[in-house]
Amino acid sequence: MGNENITIDPWGSAQSTDYDRIIEQFGLSPMAGVDMVNPTKLHRRGIVFAHRDMEAVQEAQRTGDAVGVLTGLMPSGQMHMGHSMVVEQVKWFQQQGADVSIAVADLESQATRGIDLAKGRSVAMEEYIAHYAALGLDPERTQVYFQSTRHAVQRLGFRLGTRTNLSEFEAIYGFSGETNLAHVQAPMVQVGDILHPQLDEFGGLRPVVVPVGVDQDPHLRLTRGLASKTNWFNLRTAPSSGVLISTSVHDDNAHVFGRQPNGRLDKAKVAAVYDRIVQCVQSLGFSDIVSSPKQGHVHVPSATKRDHHGLRMALLRLERDLGGMGLLAPSSTYHHFAVGLTGSKMSSSQPKTTLFLRDDLATVEKKIKRAFSGSQATVEEHRRLGGNPDIDVAYQYMMYFFEEDDAHLAELNAAYRAGTLLAGEMKQACIDRAVAWMSHLDEMRDQTAHLVPSFLAADSR
Ligand code: TRP
Repeated sequence: MGNENITIDPWGSAQSTDYDRIIEQFGLSPMAGVDMVNPTKLHRRGIVFAHRDMEAVQEAQRTGDAVGVLTGLMPSGQMHMGHSMVVEQVKWFQQQGADVSIAVADLESQATRGIDLAKGRSVAMEEYIAHYAALGLDPERTQVYFQSTRHAVQRLGFRLGTRTNLSEFEAIYGFSGETNLAHVQAPMVQVGDILHPQLDEFGGLRPVVVPVGVDQDPHLRLTRGLASKTNWFNLRTAPSSGVLISTSVHDDNAHVFGRQPNGRLDKAKVAAVYDRIVQCVQSLGFSDIVSSPKQGHVHVPSATKRDHHGLRMALLRLERDLGGMGLLAPSSTYHHFAVGLTGSKMSSSQPKTTLFLRDDLATVEKKIKRAFSGSQATVEEHRRLGGNPDIDVAYQYMMYFFEEDDAHLAELNAAYRAGTLLAGEMKQACIDRAVAWMSHLDEMRDQTAHLVPSFLAADSR
């Protein structure tokens, strides 16, 4: 035990919360140490704990270039507190200037949960988008679309299917011969969701960040792998120093790279492509450039790690000019899962484990009163030994959802550990905050209801 590999199953009910192992095994980067502007409470508290390629997003923000953010929702059931975490992060990116695309995963929901498309549409609008509006997303900079009606998404997913196979799905998702093909199709559509905002008609080449829970990381690994398999130019740190740009010749681009049908090399074409690479690197201000078509690479000795992003973007633009797709692997961020009210996993199918955004205030109060607490068996023991806020649901929900003030949260934490604050008092504090939060949401839902249709993209009305 302990050393087995973790497999993440996006459709399964079991979820690993061994986040350090997840970081290590799947090669995520810890979020700690990433500089952020006006971080949300989820960032400040380490709840958003890891990322892939946030550097690309930050580099674009730094230079004033466009950034996109994409998320998707499963239109089934009711929205609960756990779902609000992604919305908070999307809103944060939006406030920093990112454009937002939201995929309604109606095809996935139909395939994996038996919800028909019409039902998926109404659930998405009345339950999810209504709350996204109430939680403060800006309809002017948000485009909601449906997987079933955005053909570019399906076409892209289908096209990239040529670059993967069942063995890869077995490795990523743990599939076997019994696996229903809906679980092959849905990820390919999700690949289309994640990459299509980079197509010219949907905003063009730019970093696109996808904030998710770790359960979705398999889809991101698949997508990143597929995007890089289509790339015509690869970048790596040179063994000596600087950066090496190499070309990746495949069926789609063999003609551009001078591979003739008779197997001969058209040297003039090769030279022309290498000239384009050199021009492209020059346009970024480099002058020392060593082009070696025979070795299949271009060396930029003075380029550093910091230049990678700019070089990559320039080469993707060149690839597009030459007829390639020019897809940048998506960036992503990962958040911890909030614990369920009962102390086990939060799940929409078990109402006792979560607070739904439409729960009335009496229900909210009742649910929090019954929540699992991290106190000792008796008040006397609690006063003497102190409680554990790390497993106390009321404390956790303030930290994840309801309490914005870090200093106040720290006081509650310390008082609970010291045993001066009792479990009942912690619950009451949580109830007060939750009731205020939910009442505000209620009000906002009414105030923003008329905006819901304006979140829809033109192709989705
Ligand atoms: N599979 C996601 C879920 O189960 C929904 C989804 C579809 C999604 N497309 C996406 C999430 C793109 C993030 C990005 O909730």
